[in-house]
Amino acid sequence: MSKKTILTGITTTGTPHIGNYLGAIKPAIDASETAEFDSYFFLADYHALVKCHDPERVAKSSREIAATWLALGLDTDKATFYRQSDIPEITELSWILTCMCSKGLMNRSHAYKASVDANQASGKSELDDGINMGLFSYPILMAADILMFNADIVPVGKDQIQHIEMTRDIAGRFNSTYTKLFNMPTAQVAEDTQLIPGLDGRKMSKSYDNTLPLFCSSDQLNKLIKQIDTDSKAPGEAKDPDNSTVFQLYDCFANEVEALQMRDKYLNGIGWGDAKKELFEFLDEKLSAPRAEYNRLMNDLPFVESVLLKGAEKARAKAMPLMEEIRIAAGLRPLPFVPATQAKKAKKEKSAEDIARAEQGRRRGILMQLKGALEAVANSDDPKLAATQLLAEKAAKLATLKAKAKDKAENELSILKEELAKFS
Ligand code: TRP
Repeated sequence: MSKKTILTGITTTGTPHIGNYLGAIKPAIDASETAEFDSYFFLADYHALVKCHDPERVAKSSREIAATWLALGLDTDKATFYRQSDIPEITELSWILTCMCSKGLMNRSHAYKASVDANQASGKSELDDGINMGLFSYPILMAADILMFNADIVPVGKDQIQHIEMTRDIAGRFNSTYTKLFNMPTAQVAEDTQLIPGLDGRKMSKSYDNTLPLFCSSDQLNKLIKQIDTDSKAPGEAKDPDNSTVFQLYDCFANEVEALQMRDKYLNGIGWGDAKKELFEFLDEKLSAPRAEYNRLMNDLPFVESVLLKGAEKARAKAMPLMEEIRIAAGLRPLPFVPATQAKKAKKEKSAEDIARAEQGRRRGILMQLKGALEAVANSDDPKLAATQLLAEKAAKLATLKAKAKDKAENELSILKEELAKFS
């Protein structure tokens, strides 16, 4: 069976945090290690422009996210790893898909509706206030990301499921309007993604400003862990591990035995100070090797850039031929181009021409044979009479003939009639 294509992107607006690692990057790298998938992972830097107009921040985030994937061991010989803006075919496809997408579909987009609702809630009379067209048509660019590589499986957070449904909708419209060129992708939602808590216990997310950056310094990590919200139970009091952010973060990185041992410590009343110290030491140890690699890569950006450019070349080798088919399907063609279906028809038309030409040839042949008789009529004293006689003679002879010979004689007769019409 042919391999399934798995594809996902990360928007380049923030610094990668532990939630990104556990929810998106780690499972993606794991998938790319199996022989089951062709994997495409990319920096969604065009998507960053939707919400972030700070160029330094977009550039910084692109460096950090690229270095993060590599530091965590992504094998770029196995996976295709690229930057969205290095693939011009994606934006080109995005326009074609824009013309395949009803405005009503975009009106129903959660992200757009949330912004409209926020404007309404704050009493603004212009409900589209502050909403740019990028935000409005964001799902179309995402559809282009996915369809450009005909992805089968798209790992995303829950908030992105609607975008995959829209992608299917748009792909279906293209397929039925033009030619079936697109697969129907499926969203793959890692259920635990939602369970990685941030410093305040809510889901870890850059929009809540509660993240633990994946590769901050040891000191920074220690400081942030000390800020994690806890209850006010004193040392010695039993604590509920399942209601503790400190424990849950430990659990995300621990194997079963480690998790069980830590659970016991909570039940036995470990103090929050000690629990946080255990979490810090554990995480710091787990992250120290990839952190060192991350720092090395951040100090060798030309190398990271070269990896991305190689990835772009690999990605474009896939995107360009499909884009060519898409253009042709939509009617964007070199002027002399004739689609295969029409070329067949043209061939039939040509053979009708051939028949006419053959007919002409046959007629010329018969005329050559009749040349003498025709000259005799023309040169006779009474051409009109001679013509009538000749036609009558031939008609009488025709009556005596059979099938094939009759056909030939009929042909002769009708040509004669035409040629002799001038005498009647
Ligand atoms: N919109 C996604 C997010 O914010 C990022 C993204 C852009 C993406 N294009 C994609 C994810 C294509 C999967 C596939 O998380």
